[in-house]
Amino acid sequence: MRNNFSRKEGAIGVFDSGYGGLTILSEIRSLMPQYDYIYLGDNARAPYGNRSFEVVYRFTLQAVEWFFSQNCHLVILACNTASAKALRSIQQNDLPLLDPQRRVLGIIRPTAENINAFTKTGHIGVFGTEGTIQSQSYELEIKKLYPYLTVIGEACPMWVPLVENNEYDKPGADYFVKQHIDRLFKKDPQIDTIILGCTHYPFLQKKIKNYLPKHIHVIAQGKYVAESLKIYLTCHPEMDEKCTKNGTIRFFTTESPEKFSQQASLFLNKKIEAQNINIDTLC
Ligand code: DGL
Repeated sequence: MRNNFSRKEGAIGVFDSGYGGLTILSEIRSLMPQYDYIYLGDNARAPYGNRSFEVVYRFTLQAVEWFFSQNCHLVILACNTASAKALRSIQQNDLPLLDPQRRVLGIIRPTAENINAFTKTGHIGVFGTEGTIQSQSYELEIKKLYPYLTVIGEACPMWVPLVENNEYDKPGADYFVKQHIDRLFKKDPQIDTIILGCTHYPFLQKKIKNYLPKHIHVIAQGKYVAESLKIYLTCHPEMDEKCTKNGTIRFFTTESPEKFSQQASLFLNKKIEAQNINIDTLC
């Protein structure tokens, strides 16, 4: 083993490049409030969306090692870009060396599993970061389960900065929202279901819906990730035993803790206190 992590039980780790994973954490927490959670936003290095495979993989691995050092046995990559670009390598190459008993799970598969229930036309749109769309991860996962569906991606590189900079509900955001909706429907006018394939995008959901006809389903991932995690923990009692249950959440950021606390309190609608950590010396 590459590291000697403590065997002690610990919280469930939830990771994102920035604030987006909070949309996933909220849903997980409301379904399973009894567990302890640690949230880490790598805000200092966000956005990940247009970074290379190697960089997203390295940053994500650093985060995973940090969670393991905090006694987390289970880590959720609440970030599509990290799930698309780093999850497989970490699961296949790093976990066996770091600690084969720990688990790192992504959020693309649970979303893909549920999509069939919504569409009538069989045409699915996916909004995501450049990295997620280029990886074609949604298309691959959805087609493994439902080969008859058509999946069309649209990369929206400006949407994450709008959220990270708290501009997502300002009038300037409308231009970028409309631009990508128009582009998606130009590629395929038959789309009737759209996946918000980036955990930051639910913050823009209200604006997105304003520009869409009422019959289009807009799917945010949080609910499906939470349900899938619950099933996972039920089916894996050996992992469930390693997850402590005192109902706590702790927040960490690689950027200013004051800024994170202020923003995250707004997003979560309750006051939180974050701590700063440095993970770029790991791995
Ligand atoms: N929220 C993340 C995702 O789901 C990452 C966005 C970014 O950092 O570009 O893809």
